[in-house]
Amino acid sequence: MNKFVIEDLTVLYSDGNESLKGVSLEIPANSITVLFGPAGGGKSTLLRVLNRLNDLADVVQISGKAHLLDAQEEPLDILDSGTDVIALRRRVAMVFARPIVLPMSIRENLTYGLRTAGERHKARLEEAVQRSLEQAALWEEVKDRLNTPAVALSGGQQQRLCLARSLALQPEVILLDEPTSGLDPISTTKVEASLQELKQSYTIILVPHSVQQAARTADQAAFFLQGQLIEYAPGKSIFITPQDKRTEDYVEGRFG
Ligand SMILES: Nc1ncnc2c1ncn2[C@@H]1O[C@H](COP(=O)(O)OP(=O)(O)OP(=O)(O)O)[C@@H](O)[C@H]1O
Ligand SMILES: [Mg+2]
Repeated sequence: MNKFVIEDLTVLYSDGNESLKGVSLEIPANSITVLFGPAGGGKSTLLRVLNRLNDLADVVQISGKAHLLDAQEEPLDILDSGTDVIALRRRVAMVFARPIVLPMSIRENLTYGLRTAGERHKARLEEAVQRSLEQAALWEEVKDRLNTPAVALSGGQQQRLCLARSLALQPEVILLDEPTSGLDPISTTKVEASLQELKQSYTIILVPHSVQQAARTADQAAFFLQGQLIEYAPGKSIFITPQDKRTEDYVEGRFG
């Protein structure tokens, strides 16, 4: 089943920079889709389109189609100006490269979004705290210090807390833009392991920080170069037998 259907998507920034050019792809539900390629290829731009963060940037023109499908495959037109952006972002959550924890306790970081959404039931809030921390592979490390400040956590723990904070709100999709770029190898391994668990219940789109991470995590991978989708293939095939010379040069490290 598909989660997103994207057709002929073009994004033009106000400086005339065309950062996506006629991109078409279908993103399946309950799997990890990796968007990779050199700097400036349009990976972050595509993620931002999917939850309308582009509304906050300098975009002058978006054309083409971007649909989000629910379990009944009922499409939501993401680009329609009438689409409720708050509701869209509740379904499609973003986790950024640099974790931004709130200056509150670990527990409050997790319950803040739910409280804002109107949840007051104490047992349900507690249940969400534990579930989301378990899903983000952080529970064991913090369960005895939930009332201590989140800023005292390590960088890797803060990144998993940000992931848990998104999960507490039970979105359908998690967008991750280089979520482990500032992390040590052990924390990176933990985040990657939790993504493998999470894909059973969520659709995950990941911009990895390296080709190696792309190859480790991808259920399907899309290679972007200067705003164009060069190649999109299931499994790890793009890393083993790339079909396009440019993909091959990139995965073999001939340019970066
Ligand atoms: N706010 C903006 N205003 C103007 N141009 C932008 C803006 N954001 C991105 N761009 C341009 O759009 C193109 C794609 O950028 P994008 O950030 O999507 O690439 P990326 O693949 O995520 O790169 P990186 O690997 O460096 O994160 C680049 O040429 C970039 O300069
Ligand atoms: Mg980027």
